[in-house]
Amino acid sequence: MNDTMRVWQLSAFGLGNLKLVEHPIPSVGPRDVLVKVGAVSLNYRDKLIVEGQLLPDRPAMPFVPVSDMAGTIVAIGDGVTRFGVGDRVMGNFWTQWINGAPPPEMRRHGLSLGGPLPGVLAEYVVISEDVAVAVPSSLSDEEASTLPIAALTAWFALVETGRLTAGEIVLVQGTGGVSLFGLQIAVALGARVIITSRDAGKLERAKALGAFHGIDTSATPAWAAEAIEVTSGDGVDHVLELIGGDNLRQSLDALSSGGRIAQIGFLGGADISLTALQLMLRRAVIQGVSVGHRRGFEQMNDAIERHGIKPVIDRVYPFDEALAAYAHLDRGPFGKVVISIV
Ligand SMILES: NC(=O)c1ccc[n+]([C@@H]2O[C@H](COP(=O)([O-])OP(=O)(O)OC[C@H]3O[C@@H](n4cnc5c(N)ncnc54)[C@H](OP(=O)(O)O)[C@@H]3O)[C@@H](O)[C@H]2O)c1
Repeated sequence: MNDTMRVWQLSAFGLGNLKLVEHPIPSVGPRDVLVKVGAVSLNYRDKLIVEGQLLPDRPAMPFVPVSDMAGTIVAIGDGVTRFGVGDRVMGNFWTQWINGAPPPEMRRHGLSLGGPLPGVLAEYVVISEDVAVAVPSSLSDEEASTLPIAALTAWFALVETGRLTAGEIVLVQGTGGVSLFGLQIAVALGARVIITSRDAGKLERAKALGAFHGIDTSATPAWAAEAIEVTSGDGVDHVLELIGGDNLRQSLDALSSGGRIAQIGFLGGADISLTALQLMLRRAVIQGVSVGHRRGFEQMNDAIERHGIKPVIDRVYPFDEALAAYAHLDRGPFGKVVISIV
């Protein structure tokens, strides 16, 4: 093994400041593992982090971005018991959140991989063994790299907090990472899925993944009426709210009585607005979701194996072409954008 590795590093906010540099390969502390990264995946937040727009988690410079990775452990500290050399692992985004309620430290921020903690767009990374999660054996590193944020967020919304049951109707928004994982998880658990998109072609691809209905929001901006119509007037039981802003009003309009909205994203606006009366009349539950804990991640991985869920990867870029991967993210991916590091 060389002493140095290649790393994409930001010297200042702005994608133009993301450069490939050499760093020493980090050494492990007593409870750390050194991971040779096989692949990383990009999330919408990676764009915000690079542009310095994700407050209050703006990282200090210089900074290595990206939260999600999968790879193989090549060295361990003396006190490591959970994993050994050769094991394939991912990192849990919230480094301190193991189970139950989030620990109080999470309120003060500073605890998430890829901003403000150092990220994983590097040939090697060191993480605590407590942050490491075993890769499902059915998945390649490229596939597993898509799980830590996008899949776990959808899982937390639908299963951990949403208690989804077979036969319920789920509505997911757009055709990016969280939305398509929401679709696949919901279908695997016996739910029926409606998906919205601004692109009719993407809706056809989403229907091939098991959605029973697609709503083209470019053609039908007032999309809630169509969701009500295709559910025979009942509305949907769960919404993954990925757009935010005024879109939340339509999600509430589309909801069944006592239905749940998982507030996850803000693609269309960081401030959300609602009518109080509509919230009360629907007896709606709105649940904020922020990725999830390690125990949930491990349970989700069991379900991914059991149901044979394969992450939807739009494109895999080589490590040298990380900037092209970010440009793809900016255009709006169908599923996940992955960077391979081999
Ligand atoms: N709370 C959490 O824990 C958490 C975790 C992960 C992500 N998020 C948030 O959830 C959102 C989605 O994240 P992601 O990583 O899944 O995104 P992504 O993979 O980049 O996908 C975004 C997709 O949403 C649609 N879209 C993009 N901009 C839009 C706009 N202005 N209005 C309507 N639709 C738009 C596009 O689909 P179409 O072209 O099909 O319309 C696009 O492919 C982001 O706001 C992200 O910050 C939150």
